[in-house]
Amino acid sequence: MPQSYEIVDHKYDVIVVGAGGAGLRATLGMASAGLKTACISKVFPTRSHTVAAQGGIGASLGNMEEDNWKWHMYDTVKGADWLGDQDAIEYMCREAVPAIYELEHFGVPFSRTDEGKIYQRPFGGHMANFGEKPVQRACAAADRTGHAILHTLYQQSLKNDAEFFIEYFAFDLIMDDDGTCQGVLAWNLDDGKMHRFQAHMTVLATGGYGRAYFSATSAHTCTGDGNAMAARAGIPLQDQEFVQFHPTGIYGAGCLITEGARGEGGYLTNSKGERFMERYAPTAKDLASRDVVSRAMTLEIREGRGVGDHDDHIFLHLEHLGGEVLNKRLPGITETARIFSGIDATKEPLRVLPTVHYNMGGVPTNYRGEVIAPTADESDRVNPGLMAIGECASASVHGANRLGTNSLLDLVVFGRAAAIRAAELVKPGATFPPLNMASADKALARFDKVRHSSGEIPTAVIRDELQRVMQNNAAVFRTSEVLKEGVEKLDDVTAKMTDVKVHDRSLIWNSDLVETLELTNLVPNAVATMYSGEARHESRGAHAHEDYPDRDDKEWMKHSLAWIDENGGCKMTYRPVHEYTLTDEVEYIVPKARVY
Ligand code: FUM
Repeated sequence: MPQSYEIVDHKYDVIVVGAGGAGLRATLGMASAGLKTACISKVFPTRSHTVAAQGGIGASLGNMEEDNWKWHMYDTVKGADWLGDQDAIEYMCREAVPAIYELEHFGVPFSRTDEGKIYQRPFGGHMANFGEKPVQRACAAADRTGHAILHTLYQQSLKNDAEFFIEYFAFDLIMDDDGTCQGVLAWNLDDGKMHRFQAHMTVLATGGYGRAYFSATSAHTCTGDGNAMAARAGIPLQDQEFVQFHPTGIYGAGCLITEGARGEGGYLTNSKGERFMERYAPTAKDLASRDVVSRAMTLEIREGRGVGDHDDHIFLHLEHLGGEVLNKRLPGITETARIFSGIDATKEPLRVLPTVHYNMGGVPTNYRGEVIAPTADESDRVNPGLMAIGECASASVHGANRLGTNSLLDLVVFGRAAAIRAAELVKPGATFPPLNMASADKALARFDKVRHSSGEIPTAVIRDELQRVMQNNAAVFRTSEVLKEGVEKLDDVTAKMTDVKVHDRSLIWNSDLVETLELTNLVPNAVATMYSGEARHESRGAHAHEDYPDRDDKEWMKHSLAWIDENGGCKMTYRPVHEYTLTDEVEYIVPKARVY
């Protein structure tokens, strides 16, 4: 073990890594259940990426018109292109309604209807009566819903005496020899000390890895840290070929313009002024699910009907909504349009382009948030001591394509589920087994090796190469040739990591080292995405493979598992999709053609 580190030891009943919506909901639930709970975050909790979620959180409250959680379940299964696990989807859609009332009671300042009920707007893919027509299901706090939820959950966590370790960078899990997770190692960016956290249950809530791409709506902190820690601990990454492109990122800047803008009546046009979505999705039109809209926009541009000097983007019209609606319902994106593209949304259309937004895949879990360690006989064995929730997890409720508003919902429903399960499994104050020092030392040795990397290539150069490969080779449309080339190029990137150069060796606020550690996390996420995409010979949800344009339920209704080895290589195996529901209240929804 490297000698030069000052180490501080901690013991907690439970540790949550990440303080976004999922991490805070779990932290709050665990602390309020009487468990000694620590939450570790590399950024101040209210700066977590959940703060950027805009348009709403899905739940069939029925405040604006009739709705039903079974319709929500149907839409989610269909949106997921039948790759979602229907037991988990049933759980999420049923629990959505009480989860929203709970948030309301915690103090989330939702927008209101004239009668004082929570305001709900339409969102892509959310329909009434099993796909008949769009329904208003997205519970909104103007267009700052994530901000409202995140602040409320942080205040509630503090009120329940959860302990926070803020601006600590968690870099590896501590695993016992039998595969039980025993905790995590973290670096305190402020004083340079190493912290060895031991816990009966460790919860990964570290968000997505959008920053593996060149242009993404994700914060710069979204580097897939939890997924990479799990991969290094021998856990496979599930369904990572499914990367969501949000239809409306601001052209050039990549900032998110909420789908709620189309929910409020906004619409897309091409260079001929056509509302082209009418051709691609005759019923839902601009409110079809995201993969459908992003593909339609990409095809319009490819076929020469893009707008602007280079015919390479699309117009989003909000002008007709008027200043009053924009100010009341969409103030955040009106400001974003002005700041990031100099456009007055009341006067002219916004310029938008499909932009990387969300990772459907991640660490495989069951509907309780427990990490699954797949076995050779394909049964689901729970990996003791480890949970994953939120965007870093694959429960799998989003399957091959997530519906808008279902990510905020996923955070609070599965954050709460993880807390309930941890309270069942962990006895407050229970004694700890001896810590596996070999595993902790191995993690510290990796940190030390990265810190002393003295190759020739700066971190930013390798990261730029990685992001460009992902942007070009794992895009909205893919082909075998492009994916194969992507695999080869990522193998080169992996090889270059042995020649990375860290300039600054200090342990205090060293952004060079943070970014290099983050790059060591982005690489396995990117590799899992490209290898899984290259291997999947069908088109499903966000994986649009031009050589295999149809969905193939006979061969491919299965979850991809990408196992990353110590040298950065990747091996694929598969596990079955759960073709069953959780209760007898609903029947398994049989696959059919997906039209909107
Ligand atoms: O469009 C949006 O407001 C994003 C919501 C989501 O990703 O769920």
